Amino acid sequence: MLILGLETSCDETGVALYDTAALADGGVHADGLLAHAVHSQVAMHAEYGGVVPELASRDHIRRLVPLTRGVLAESGRSLSGIDAVAYTEGPGLAGALLVAAAFAHGLGLARDRPVIGIHHLEGHLLSPLLGRPAPAFPFIALLVSGGHTQLMRVEDVGRYALLGETLDDAAGEAFDKTAQLLDLGYPGGPALSKLAESGSAGRFVLPRPMLKSDSLDFSFSGLKTAVMLKVREAGGGTGDATFRADLARGFEEAAVEVLTAKCLRALAISGLKRLVVAGGVGANRPLRAALDAATARQGCSVHYPAPELCTDNGAMIAYAAARRLVLSNVAETHAFSVPKETHAFSVRPRWDLAALQAPKRA
Ligand code: KG4
Ligand code: ZN
Repeated sequence: MLILGLETSCDETGVALYDTAALADGGVHADGLLAHAVHSQVAMHAEYGGVVPELASRDHIRRLVPLTRGVLAESGRSLSGIDAVAYTEGPGLAGALLVAAAFAHGLGLARDRPVIGIHHLEGHLLSPLLGRPAPAFPFIALLVSGGHTQLMRVEDVGRYALLGETLDDAAGEAFDKTAQLLDLGYPGGPALSKLAESGSAGRFVLPRPMLKSDSLDFSFSGLKTAVMLKVREAGGGTGDATFRADLARGFEEAAVEVLTAKCLRALAISGLKRLVVAGGVGANRPLRAALDAATARQGCSVHYPAPELCTDNGAMIAYAAARRLVLSNVAETHAFSVPKETHAFSVRPRWDLAALQAPKRA
């Protein structure tokens, strides 16, 4: 089965083509990804210091058709060869989500193909399974993006239990807001991390929020405030390059230590041996180094998506749909097809991942 995956939940337009033949016994799941393409709107939103929802929606409309054509051309396939269309149903920006939703349902109706709405975070959670080697279920997953910081226990496709989450800012949001305090532009995570490389370790020892608490929840807003206070103490100026680099380093060290400690605690409490890291902040190099070292010490393994699959993309949506479709044999049942009576389709700007249903096995 050939699945077209579409992602337009925020500021990246993603399209991918996945062949479920790779899911057969002994198959390498990464091999099923025939082609994928992403257009990032980061440059467009940068001058506003954050994502402007209306601009995001309009840009998704412009990009979706050419990206789909490109993916089909790259994989040597045509629209008529597609067996099912998957799109990000939520969570995300309502107007942005509607773009892929409308495109997917239009295509589904025109071609009489099943259409399946996918949870964006399920896509992120499963994306490390497109890596080599792929982790086996069950595992602990750390989801760290601009909007989410969650620790989940992942039993199987669609069986997710929330273990802990941020009580305020998401990890990526904390990176972005701190970067803004240091005049690094938007989104600041990668720039902040780059600057921190030249900073001195230990000059600024910032708070490690909730590090010592037994809970698996996180809190990052105090850490961001600590950076703000240091900037204020320094007279509000961020001109001194050494000051900025050392402060960036202090922030990153604190964030990485908390994230790493909570992952280890989740592994210890659950007794599981595999950790999966997904979402944009998962690209952070010091975080990867800390998790690599800490999990190795505990006899555990850690798995990351390929770098290009860390940010939002269509591949993770096509793959999540592939796993669900194969389990429930939807091509035969057409269980997910567009209701012919109403032609209605939905987006879910807010959608709790733990409430997601496992696919009904055929
Ligand atoms: O998953 P993602 O691409 O988008 C969503 O939020 O869904 O994550 C984006 C976030 C941004 O906050 C960005 O600053 C952060 O991931 N990020 C990083 C790095 N690369 C991206 N944060 C720290 N270090 C990085 N290398
Ligand atoms: Zn995302």
